[in-house]
Amino acid sequence: MRPSEAKDHPVAGRPPGPCPAPAHLARDGRDPRVVDADVPAAVGRVLQWVLAERTERATAMDPDFGRDLAERLARFTLDGGKRIRSQFTWWAMRACGGGAAEADAALHVGAALELIQSCALVHDDVMDGSRLRRGRLSLHADVTAQYADTVPGGAGSRLGEAAAILAGDLALAWADDLVADVEAPRPRARAVRDLWSLMRTEMVAGQYLDLQGQALSSRSLTRAIRAACLKSALYSVERPLALGAALAGADAARSQALCSAGRCVGIAFQLRDDLSDVFGDPRHTGKPIGGDIRAGKPTYLVAVAQARAEAAGDRRGLAVLRRSLGRADLPESRLAEVLDVLVATGARDIVEAKIDRLAGHAMRHLESAQLEPEGHLPLRDLLLATAGSCACPPPPPGHPNAEDGLPVSLLLTAAVEAAARRAPEEAAR
Ligand code: IPE
Ligand code: MG
Ligand code: MG
Ligand code: MG
Repeated sequence: MRPSEAKDHPVAGRPPGPCPAPAHLARDGRDPRVVDADVPAAVGRVLQWVLAERTERATAMDPDFGRDLAERLARFTLDGGKRIRSQFTWWAMRACGGGAAEADAALHVGAALELIQSCALVHDDVMDGSRLRRGRLSLHADVTAQYADTVPGGAGSRLGEAAAILAGDLALAWADDLVADVEAPRPRARAVRDLWSLMRTEMVAGQYLDLQGQALSSRSLTRAIRAACLKSALYSVERPLALGAALAGADAARSQALCSAGRCVGIAFQLRDDLSDVFGDPRHTGKPIGGDIRAGKPTYLVAVAQARAEAAGDRRGLAVLRRSLGRADLPESRLAEVLDVLVATGARDIVEAKIDRLAGHAMRHLESAQLEPEGHLPLRDLLLATAGSCACPPPPPGHPNAEDGLPVSLLLTAAVEAAARRAPEEAAR
């Protein structure tokens, strides 16, 4: 039954159960070199097939549900994003010796990661009150706009937000379904399930830390890095790499090296996102600048500025931060003052330097992993692009490596707090 016919068959629909994959997916699965040539396209084909099938079923259940939520979620997932998470899984699998036997599972885990990303972003935009995403209306704002004539005002906004919560739930449920269906030898399937379960919870923990820190006006460096790690680094880079390694049956040394590299790059990725929010070009970021400042987000960038202003006795800088952070109606002129403080305290340079340092550490971890040539260089390029590092010199021999793949709890010591209070060049090492 086609979606347009659903109205005439209100309780019909395809009986539940897996559908056979179309021929081109089977072809991708047999020959991993087809996927190597264009990983985002291969993941896109899986998503297209899965989402077409899911939206068709949703529309058969109820046409309004299908149109407002399922189709919107499918469009959101298919039309945007760089597919970095699924690429990490693919290239980690290839770099750890995986091939034809693992290709189908890696693509399906990759598609599940893209759906988790849709869930995260759709919910994030509600929680952060962001009207724009990727240069378009965010999902909740789009639903609100759809019903502006029939459900105006606060009720329309509430409908939009409630719809986005449900659309995010749908994305998470469909992602879980994909992972549950992954076929792999038992220990590998088990490892995938365990990583998946951990990753979902980590992301929720990180988002909570971010929101709680915002509400409590936290300026703690330690908490800022922990939140960046949990809300972004783990689900965006480290766990996708670990999933690829697990599918390929990688040994502990290789998995650990990839995870360490992924953690460094993942934290750098969020630090870059925080910088872009303040100093980026809206034509590239797809959102207005200063959202984090107006929301009072407890970012590492702001925490460094606060620590540096305190250490220098910079009363003007501290006053600007105090009266501006978290002010939703902050005028442009006042936002410009905050940007000045972020530059004048050295916070911007410190964060830039930290990103470079993290990228350098990541490269060192990657080189220690002794990866297979099929995946080594693509993985290196993807990690560097994701870190958003402008330069990434390898760290000097014997240099203490604070991001060395340690558990989050050990990584975040008082030493991190202390570092930012020292001279910028020293803190940024
Ligand atoms: C979002 O962090 C992290 C997740 C979606 C889990 P941000 O709130 O900083 O992301 P953007 O800036 O809105 O994309
Ligand atoms: Mg956000
Ligand atoms: Mg957020
Ligand atoms: Mg952000």
